[in-house]
Amino acid sequence: MTYLSRISRGEIEQNLKSAYDVIKEVDYITDTYILDFFVEDVWEKLPKDWRTYLESLSLAELAQLIDATAAIPKEECIPNSLLNVRESVLRCSLSRDFKQYNVLSNSSNFPLFEHLKDGRFESNFFRGVKKKKTYEIMNMSALIYQTTQQIPVDFVVDVGGGVGHLSRVLAYVYNVKVISVDGNKSFITYANKLNDKIALYMKKLKPGVTDLIRPIHICSMVESNITTEEFEKLIQQGTSYGIVGLHPCGDLAPTLLKLFKTSTNCKFINIASCCYMKLSTDQEAENEHLGFPVSEESKEYPIKLSYAARELACHALELYKQKLILGNVEDLKVHSYRALLELLIVEKYPSRRKEQIKSVKYRDGLTFFEYAERALRCSDIQLNLDEADLQSISEKIDQWKRVVIVYSLRLMFAPLIETIILMDRLLYLHNDVGSCDLIPFFDPTISPRTHVLTATK
Ligand SMILES: C[S@@+](CC[C@H](N)C(=O)[O-])C[C@H]1O[C@@H](n2cnc3c(N)ncnc32)[C@H](O)[C@@H]1O
Repeated sequence: MTYLSRISRGEIEQNLKSAYDVIKEVDYITDTYILDFFVEDVWEKLPKDWRTYLESLSLAELAQLIDATAAIPKEECIPNSLLNVRESVLRCSLSRDFKQYNVLSNSSNFPLFEHLKDGRFESNFFRGVKKKKTYEIMNMSALIYQTTQQIPVDFVVDVGGGVGHLSRVLAYVYNVKVISVDGNKSFITYANKLNDKIALYMKKLKPGVTDLIRPIHICSMVESNITTEEFEKLIQQGTSYGIVGLHPCGDLAPTLLKLFKTSTNCKFINIASCCYMKLSTDQEAENEHLGFPVSEESKEYPIKLSYAARELACHALELYKQKLILGNVEDLKVHSYRALLELLIVEKYPSRRKEQIKSVKYRDGLTFFEYAERALRCSDIQLNLDEADLQSISEKIDQWKRVVIVYSLRLMFAPLIETIILMDRLLYLHNDVGSCDLIPFFDPTISPRTHVLTATK
């Protein structure tokens, strides 16, 4: 698929339903966490011909299989049913080819470039900020700036703005008036401190500058039942505005879509979503404001995605593909260690399934016993591994490649699940706004939630 602005509502609806039909076919894979591999005997749930084919693949071939855009490995052996679902993944998923749309690459007239020439820019604006976040902010701010050039507004509201990194770049670098709203008071306090500090740097960088715009930070939760009037009272700084958000989590993203759709003053929206598992669904919603699905068509179909499937949609197959190609077996074994540990925990404590335990970073030569000891160090779960059935443990560890296969298969479906969630949002907006699109914007190996939803009136 390409960008969606020219695609009709009927086509989006059809694509959404086709994607969902595929996920229903494979929900025994997408709804199962990898840690349940042994507890639920997941391997045996796969069709026999799939198992035979999948076990015949090398790790590099497995990497090829899960990327539906790549050639099919051992094409002559792939079972038809697996081939069909893989083709559906390719046909129905949103493109993740971010290279088609790189706002910064050919835009040397962006004000940001001027600043990047100063070696201190990054260390001032992004001290202590992870590379991933820095990359996202640099790109997202450029996209928002570009939108404000096309659709001038009085100000931009950065909802879920956190400590204000995006707002600060928009204000100080791009001269965009920004209101940043976040529910966390300590973030606002810290954001204001950073604003002061970076304003000093900006004044040094551009002596004599008089028009430095400071972002304004407001501490408030934007709940899913907020009305447009309440929201606009909160942010009253002018008339026309655009809503932006870098990873507004869970229900915040659909709430922003609702505000955009219902307000005549809001002229555009640019959001990159995250934490799909936190969306309230009809099973979990405490009020009528569902986080997913939001479109009438999806509610009617009805489209339902489990927590596990929505969590899966947050993962990038591109990163795991790289790991498979690298083929570091010890590293790949870590999921089988967790699955085996889950089995041993459940055997002793049947009521403590999927309990949060310490995550253990892989290091060379890590054995299962070392892994288990570290994972349970801060837990009251006590497994006497000295007396465990060593042969059974070793047989399970020997199945590590099957665990890798199931993990990989799950990831193959991740883009399709994300497509369902995002297209549902697109349908919700379609007809009521001027244009709306889902752009493959971020490099998924850096930022797994690749797409930015952008819409204008
Ligand atoms: C994943 S963080 C993203 C922060 C920031 N945009 C960034 O990219 O660094 C989500 C932020 O949204 C805020 N948040 C979540 N739900 C919110 C709500 N309903 N109303 C206001 N803020 C919210 C959180 O406090 C958090 O700072």
